[in-house]
Amino acid sequence: MDALAALKERISADRFDPSRRLSEAEIRELVAYATEAPSSFNIQHWRFVAVADPEDKERLKSLAYNQQKVADAAVVFIILGDLRGHEKLPELVQRAVAAGILSPERAEGWVNMAQATYANNPALARDEAIRSGALAAMALMIAAQAKGLVSGPMIGFDPGGVKREFGIADRYVPVMLLAVGYPAPGNLPRKPRLGVEEVLAFGRGREF
Ligand SMILES: Cc1cc2nc3c(=O)[nH]c(=O)nc-3n(C[C@H](O)[C@H](O)[C@H](O)COP(=O)(O)O)c2cc1C
Repeated sequence: MDALAALKERISADRFDPSRRLSEAEIRELVAYATEAPSSFNIQHWRFVAVADPEDKERLKSLAYNQQKVADAAVVFIILGDLRGHEKLPELVQRAVAAGILSPERAEGWVNMAQATYANNPALARDEAIRSGALAAMALMIAAQAKGLVSGPMIGFDPGGVKREFGIADRYVPVMLLAVGYPAPGNLPRKPRLGVEEVLAFGRGREF
């Protein structure tokens, strides 16, 4: 399936076949595709907790307004964003230097710019963590679609409870839950989108 077909055919699934699982290798492969997403300075704020064990999914379901898809999907990813992602940049840029992609001087420039951008601006650091996490989630949804799976993003959950129950450190903000698995009958078709003329302006903004 090409990217355009995956974009057009993806639905937000509500019904999952509870009898069909995904292997750890399949879960890893989905996350590998998710990490192809771009991020500011390539900080890669995204982190993933894969919840696939039936008892764990039940615990997660109770923190997600008892949405049944949390129990039925093969895996539910808790997608996290690192609020302190920029602190890891000095180490991360070394990989691009070692690969010959960034010069040491340019890498140092990135690190300094990222510190200046985020270190004293926690609101922007949080925006960035959520922005990156959301891009990774979208990449994961498209990868799942391309592999014949369906996905269901969710913000209907108690973030504090999820952090507590699943041992998630303070530095991470839960971005969304993402259920992935095989579909069961009864999913709604793709919903109508606003038309391009309703969302697009050329050159300058307007009240849409
Ligand atoms: C960030 C986000 C949070 C969402 N939260 C929930 C949720 O908690 N429960 C749910 O059933 N659907 C949730 N949805 C699914 C939306 O309702 C769905 O994406 C939208 O209706 C469009 O559906 P479609 O992609 O199938 O056309 C969420 C979607 C997004 C992107």
